[in-house]
Amino acid sequence: MEKREFLYEGKAKKLYGTDDPTQVVVEYKDHLTAFNAQKKATMGGKGRLNNLISAHLFEKLRDRGIPVHFERILDDVHQLVKKVVIFPLEVVVRNITTGSLCKRLGIREGMELPRPLVEFYYKEDALDDPLILEDHALLFGWATREELDTIKALALRVNDELREIFSGLGIILVDFKLEFGRDMEGNLLLADEISPDTCRFWDRSTGDRLDKDRFRKDLGDVLGAYEEIWRRLSGGAGR
Ligand code: C5P
Repeated sequence: MEKREFLYEGKAKKLYGTDDPTQVVVEYKDHLTAFNAQKKATMGGKGRLNNLISAHLFEKLRDRGIPVHFERILDDVHQLVKKVVIFPLEVVVRNITTGSLCKRLGIREGMELPRPLVEFYYKEDALDDPLILEDHALLFGWATREELDTIKALALRVNDELREIFSGLGIILVDFKLEFGRDMEGNLLLADEISPDTCRFWDRSTGDRLDKDRFRKDLGDVLGAYEEIWRRLSGGAGR
């Protein structure tokens, strides 16, 4: 598959066209950002790890019946995906209290929720991706009732599948962010990425943070944490 014209550059990825109008190539960058890019760094090898981790998880989810935009991995930093129009929504699923939830509501960190919490944020960098109600999405035309219901149901299924996968690796899936889109045939698909940039992973026995919180909170050895996630997912074999 030829990587053709440059289409778009985001904080952690670049998109390129291909010779097939229904597909695009995603390039995972070594850039790491936090707090809506107020904190930035470049970390050699991060793009490769996120590409491998994300591809692996999309494959697992596809095997388990979740509709995904992912087609196949191309090389260390590129993957082929279906072209989608992304809903301007960030869907966060939480199993354990931490992060912005605790900050916003003044709740204690590390509490296990009796059931997963699904939150919608409006995907708009200029506004720092504000938390919204489903009614905002409906009234401003960001998604229909049916789309929100499908997205929420898929997000909860993804949570079940990912929790099971990570639990088998001694990792607690604390929370994560998903994005969804529609492909050119109108199918609603899970899109974007699933990686230590977009999830919180805690080691079950040590409590170590194995995700971007190491960068956000200056905990050190960010790349080592991402490597550890890939080592466990790939069964130690690497790729
Ligand atoms: O910061 P907050 O606690 O709201 O993050 C919840 C989850 O969503 C975390 O796993 C975080 O990595 C992810 N997230 C993300 N992109 C954002 C906001 C949050 O991947 N823009």
